[in-house]
Amino acid sequence: MAELETHEFDVIIVGAGGAGLRAAIEAQATGARTAVVCKSLLGKAHTVMAEGGVAAALGNVWPEDNWQVHFRDTMRGGKMLNNWRMAQLHAQEAPARVLELEAWGALFDRTPDGRILQRDFGGHRYARLAHVGDRTGLELLRTVQQRSVGLGVQVFMECKIVSLVLDGSGAVAGAVGLWRETGKFVLFKARSIVLASGGVGKTWKFTSNSWESTGDGHALALWAGADLIDMECVQFHPTGMVWPPSARGILVTEGVRGDGGVLRNAEGRRFMFDYIPAFYAKETADSIEEADQWYDNKRDFRRPPELLPRDEVARSINAEVKAGRGSPHGGVFLDIASRRSADDIRRRLPSMYHQFKELADVDITADPMEVGPTCHYIMGGVRVDADTQATNVPGLFAAGEVAGGMHGSNRLGGNSLSDLLVFGRRAGQYAAEHALGLSAQPAVDLAGVDAVVADALSFFDHDGGENPYSVHQDLQDTMQSLVGIVRTESELVEADRRLGDLEARAAKVGVEGHRQFNPGWHLALDLRSMLAVARCTTLGAIERKESRGGHTRDDFPAADPDHFGKVNMVTRRADGAVTVHEEPLPQMPPELQALFEEAH
Ligand code: FUM
Repeated sequence: MAELETHEFDVIIVGAGGAGLRAAIEAQATGARTAVVCKSLLGKAHTVMAEGGVAAALGNVWPEDNWQVHFRDTMRGGKMLNNWRMAQLHAQEAPARVLELEAWGALFDRTPDGRILQRDFGGHRYARLAHVGDRTGLELLRTVQQRSVGLGVQVFMECKIVSLVLDGSGAVAGAVGLWRETGKFVLFKARSIVLASGGVGKTWKFTSNSWESTGDGHALALWAGADLIDMECVQFHPTGMVWPPSARGILVTEGVRGDGGVLRNAEGRRFMFDYIPAFYAKETADSIEEADQWYDNKRDFRRPPELLPRDEVARSINAEVKAGRGSPHGGVFLDIASRRSADDIRRRLPSMYHQFKELADVDITADPMEVGPTCHYIMGGVRVDADTQATNVPGLFAAGEVAGGMHGSNRLGGNSLSDLLVFGRRAGQYAAEHALGLSAQPAVDLAGVDAVVADALSFFDHDGGENPYSVHQDLQDTMQSLVGIVRTESELVEADRRLGDLEARAAKVGVEGHRQFNPGWHLALDLRSMLAVARCTTLGAIERKESRGGHTRDDFPAADPDHFGKVNMVTRRADGAVTVHEEPLPQMPPELQALFEEAH
């Protein structure tokens, strides 16, 4: 085989979203030669879809807020499946990470006295989300992008990592990438690798995720021997666009509800009052009068039910539509027009205003939006050490959406941006320390690299093979219809069976044309990742015979105390099969446990 283009770094970061770039900043600042490799263009990442804000207990709007309350909200939102130590570090460090962003030039909306303004979001007791209108993720990304490039981090764009490379001892030695433009391969030798590749949304049909989110990092980790956890915990954001079909799934920020927007069914009724779960009954207003009082004077702590956590709201919308009370295109109505002035809406939600005007010809200052759940985020992911973000593969780290544990079974809105800042920084620091602590660059088995390249090229030999697009479509249909918001044993078992067929079809897909920018070939490779994720999610969903957060089982509608404090561990056996078993979470220390007792 012709000699491969090769680069050598201390730390390679896979992914250029917020977590990847924040990790890169830290690794480079720690003294490691650092590069970021991304499948797409720099600045294009799912991070921008966290529109409404970054959650941090700054206490600018509510002086009562503090890390303990944020920690408690996060754990309760995740239905206590969270890794408590990650939730603690996250709540403690998020304010410093936001202030650091501000020092690096991020713009935020302001309180009248000039501090960072914070808005309400579901499941957060206090208005806690620092924001820039509804473009917070974009501003965050712009800021860490400028900072990392300024520090001299090298960026390799439009390069898909197809495999990690391990040395003889099973430790990270590098990664093999594919240049999307030329179809040539590249070897990145590295002492540490940080996976920061984001989510898996393109495995489902209706998603807020863009084409990049195919679970590559989850699959790379699994194939390299890293454990995954709780892959059944997938978040369906309650509000995506449902119409027109070309826009279906595009995110409608929770900031609309945070700023006073309400949900109505086809009868015009604010149906969320019918779905207040016992778990949140004490703090949720049970009448329109009380909820509106809260909007008028937020000192009243009984919050409107539209601001319940996402899992609750998505399930409720799903139930309304199923009961025949949905909007014409299978969603419900989100009304901000009757709640806020047109000027306010355009100022605080400019992207939403333009999005609906341009894509749906709806003026949201005058008319309600049609919205419904959209696959947005996976809470499960690569198992990491809470403090260092290290996986069980030496030299491999993971941060941001690809890492599991932080959000338990349901993530609170706004906690993703703070997660990626807090744990991106930690992953970058510890990956750099690991790399700098090695006495030599780990050895790369070049024959193994050649085998990876040959395998990736094999799709060109499948003459007359099926088109990868049809396999992708069937995969999305399967996951959407059988492993969606509400699940049941028979459907999950059927999904698992269909995945077997889809894997067999995907192995034989053929690609036409040549290697230069060949999207069909790229999809054939992405399908491997998506199928790996789909299998882990489905098996995890079969194993978890209870309903918890984002995982709802029609046949086991309640949380099961037997599953309390246990994660679903996903491992890959030597023969390639994936297995799922339960393992206990680390025990929460008494001083943190006491926070929950105080709350009650
Ligand atoms: O609704 C939103 O703005 C999304 C935020 C998030 O996922 O954190």
